[in-house]
Amino acid sequence: MLITFEGIDGSGKSTQISLLKDKLTSVGKTVRVFREPGGTQISEEIRELLLNTEFHIDSVTELLLFSSARSQLMSEEVLPALEKGEVVILDRFYDSTTAYQGYGRKSLPLNQIQQINSIASHGRTPDFTFYLRLSLDESNHRRAHLSKDRMERAGDEFFANVIKGFDDLAEQEERFIVIEASQSIEVIHESIVKRLSSKLL
Ligand code: TMP
Repeated sequence: MLITFEGIDGSGKSTQISLLKDKLTSVGKTVRVFREPGGTQISEEIRELLLNTEFHIDSVTELLLFSSARSQLMSEEVLPALEKGEVVILDRFYDSTTAYQGYGRKSLPLNQIQQINSIASHGRTPDFTFYLRLSLDESNHRRAHLSKDRMERAGDEFFANVIKGFDDLAEQEERFIVIEASQSIEVIHESIVKRLSSKLL
């Protein structure tokens, strides 16, 4: 089973992923967790390039680099793990590309981005996507004391468009489960577990 987590920075994805991993492991599942971009040596190197504040990266190049990192992760780790019947949890997947490179950067028309997403994911779609929804104000507030990587420096208008992208996807895609990220860690974890209980627990 492939479970993905989406949302803007500061939405609490990593905390929830770690809690979910522990829960699924405690009931005997083998769980693999990867972050995007990242998760393989090549994909982590690409991540360094993408987040480095010294570079000015053309928006189509950016789209293709995120996609290259994803393709490598899929072929090296995700597809083999799914083949073995393991649960794979991804901290971001191609919905981030639609939201950030499609709605945020507007690098290419959305239908072309969808085609690239399909190629980079080797045709695999998530079984469940948990979208931790957070307002721009709350995201800025939660991250005020942190230094910003190249993507995070994009500014409020960019992030408002990214949120619109995730919201549109949530309306269009049945696999999306929207959870308000302003709730407590425990309440969010419980709703995630509840949604998965009939399938995995
Ligand atoms: P992270 O900080 O959540 O690990 O993600 C790295 C940054 O990359 C984050 O700002 C979101 C961004 N991103 C994209 O712009 N497009 C993508 O396809 C992915 C996976 C991440």
